[in-house]
Amino acid sequence: MLSKSAARAFFLVGTIGFSVIFLLLTFDTIRRVPEQTNADNLTPQAIAGKHLWDRNNCMGCHTILGEGAYYAPELTKVYERRGPEFIKAMLRDPEAMYPGQRRMVKYDFTDEEMEAMVAFLKWIGEMDLNGFPPEAHPAAGDGADGGAGGRCRGFAPAQGVQPNLHRLP
Ligand code: HEC
Repeated sequence: MLSKSAARAFFLVGTIGFSVIFLLLTFDTIRRVPEQTNADNLTPQAIAGKHLWDRNNCMGCHTILGEGAYYAPELTKVYERRGPEFIKAMLRDPEAMYPGQRRMVKYDFTDEEMEAMVAFLKWIGEMDLNGFPPEAHPAAGDGADGGAGGRCRGFAPAQGVQPNLHRLP
């Protein structure tokens, strides 16, 4: 058994040692944020898009960077997956893109606001997120089996401009 002084030394070395490691890793992570997020590309237009994102409660239904609500698809990579025209069409008239399905709010954005939203989603999509969102596992099927593949449909790969959520209620 450890003597009292050995136990104290063990506690102090362990606590201080791991606190230092924790602080160094935290510092290293923060140091890399500007590079990983392409902070230089953060234009006033993209910032305006972020404000629109917040003011219009997109997160009430969607997630971005994994944060938000799970009613509607993850949008971190939506620019890559769908492209700018699809995104604008979705904001202009969601019903036309997914007829008779779950409802997305129809936003009466001006052209300028629409471009700002697209710029924001493009900037988000270009971040280095260490592999987030995860790719679907190849063995998991394409989701067309009613979910037996067990993968999240929000991550389904792009199929042209076709909606990929057609089997959801
Ligand atoms: C009331 C819930 C709701 C809100 C609020 C909402 N959306 Fe959506 N959104 C949806 C749903 C639902 C879908 C998918 C359509 C479906 O499955 O029928 C969708 C789809 C999308 C898509 C297409 C995604 C894809 O991969 O096909 C984009 C882009 C999008 N939304 C952007 C936005 C933006 C930007 C905002 C905020 C300005 C927003 N949404 C607010 C519900 C919402």
